[in-house]
Amino acid sequence: MDTARGELLEERIRIATPRPATPRALARVIGRIARHFDWKGPIGCAVPAVVKDGCLRTAANISGTWIGVDATALFAVATKCRVGVINDADAAGYAEMHFGAGRRRRGLVIMVTLGTGIGTALFIDGYLVPNTELGHLTLRGRDAEKWAAASVREEGGLSWTAWTRRLDAYLHLMHGYFWPDLFIIGGGISRKADRFLPLLTVPTPVVPAKLKNDAGIIGAALAYAPARARRKPRKTPR
Ligand code: BGC
Repeated sequence: MDTARGELLEERIRIATPRPATPRALARVIGRIARHFDWKGPIGCAVPAVVKDGCLRTAANISGTWIGVDATALFAVATKCRVGVINDADAAGYAEMHFGAGRRRRGLVIMVTLGTGIGTALFIDGYLVPNTELGHLTLRGRDAEKWAAASVREEGGLSWTAWTRRLDAYLHLMHGYFWPDLFIIGGGISRKADRFLPLLTVPTPVVPAKLKNDAGIIGAALAYAPARARRKPRKTPR
């Protein structure tokens, strides 16, 4: 990653998630990725869980064996590199705030990633409040992500209108609690924003993410890049 520009420097590789996705099996995959790029520098990793001091603390959509695991140490051994681990929605939000839809946006911005679950990242004047698990707010008597995530639309065969009503109810719930200045909608579904954005009634402005599938990768790298690599290069003096 070129963290000053927010661009991938090489083609991304995709390796199927091992089953079962235990910490040890995942560490092997991450080791393979580092070797593929012949990488010796710092690595940022995004995971779908609360991360405190490098350890995973929740496992809503991943194997329970991850809880309590020091992923930073595990991945550092597997890659022989310095590793930082961050929540996946926080990573995606971080990238959007730097290079995407949240650029130069002040006030309270909430990024919502819609996929298997619902991830959230909350920013105040550009500063991240990490590990907000707002996808687990209770909505219609259940965990909001079990009712309104993008996967629910696909698996339940819901029409865009029916699913958007759910998303709208979820955004209204958050609006009532936080009164944000902006919602950024991320996840694969943001590519089809024209199908659902016009149907939303929540009073907060809602925009689609700009970085699409690369947001998590860009944000994780950015969060753990040395400060000097994050700066934009100055124009060459004449
Ligand atoms: C997890 C979050 C994660 C989100 C998106 C939720 O189930 O609890 O930590 O950010 O899914 O992957």
